[in-house]
Amino acid sequence: MLSDDRARRALAALRRFPCRTLGRYPTPIDPLDRFGRRAGIPQRLFVKRDDAISFGFGGNKVRKLQYVLPSIVASGADTVITCGGVQSNHVRATAAAATAAGLDCHVVVNGTAPTPPTGNALLDRLYGATFEYVSAREERAPAMERAAARLRAEGRRPAIVPLGASTPHGALGYVAAIGEMLDQGLRPDLIVHACSSGGTSAGLLAGCAVHGLDAAVIGISADDPPAAVETAVRSILRGLGELLEIGPALESSIRVQVDDAFVGPGYGEPTPASREAAELMARAEAIVVDHSYTAKATAGLLDYCRSRRIGADATVLFWHTGGQVALFA
Ligand SMILES: Cc1ncc(COP(=O)(O)O)c(C=O)c1O
Repeated sequence: MLSDDRARRALAALRRFPCRTLGRYPTPIDPLDRFGRRAGIPQRLFVKRDDAISFGFGGNKVRKLQYVLPSIVASGADTVITCGGVQSNHVRATAAAATAAGLDCHVVVNGTAPTPPTGNALLDRLYGATFEYVSAREERAPAMERAAARLRAEGRRPAIVPLGASTPHGALGYVAAIGEMLDQGLRPDLIVHACSSGGTSAGLLAGCAVHGLDAAVIGISADDPPAAVETAVRSILRGLGELLEIGPALESSIRVQVDDAFVGPGYGEPTPASREAAELMARAEAIVVDHSYTAKATAGLLDYCRSRRIGADATVLFWHTGGQVALFA
């Protein structure tokens, strides 16, 4: 637990960070009563609808970009460069955010362009992004550096947004989001969400710590093993400790929990559990989850609740991080 004094200091620091609001907040918190009943789950279940963020087709990246954009704009940049897979939610949200800030957007994507463009790739184009393709994930970061050098040589002022906007600044979006949830009157015992590059987990964990919420946060991995995601989360937490002016006390007060038991054969590949979860969400609540991230997180939610790793009287929040555009890929 953080001391009251440190928590107060961190919250004061959080309020000083510029935030470029994209969309309307708070996002709704809805009960998942039918879903819970159909799944035979005794816990009180709720969903935080970040899939319904009213900007750029929503999702967790929008919250992060709200805290990443101001320093880019202040630096005088005219072009945002970022990277991801062909159907990256992050790339789509960054292309939308750049447009909203009057900036150009150039993206480095690994994979093959869909013909005709579909899903996120279609939206990237509509938002006006320019593209270049690389054949592997590892080639993305050097390609972004090369693109930045090229643009600078042309007299442009590029700024790179790293993969997933999973920087300490980006994670501030989820530190603030915990405050938003508490203002809506919900104090869950457990928060379950989809994770990958670690920014959402770091923000949610730090948000609980600085807002004095004693909740467990479980990140259900979309791809990497727990040790890799936890290393990323811890590194972002260290940066967040600096930004929030409480140093290493933040990271040392936090227990990071990442579970990769629901990945199945690989990133984006459905599993029997993710299919059951997606069907239940859609048919019981008319809420859509995607097979790369949120269906697997929903499968994790079901498993944790059914297996009684979570007490029957617990209040559990599924933090929906978006990803629904992938259904149209
Ligand atoms: C829909 C969705 N959920 C969850 C995540 C994981 O978030 P993070 O990269 O912050 O761990 C992502 C991004 O990769 C995503 O697009």
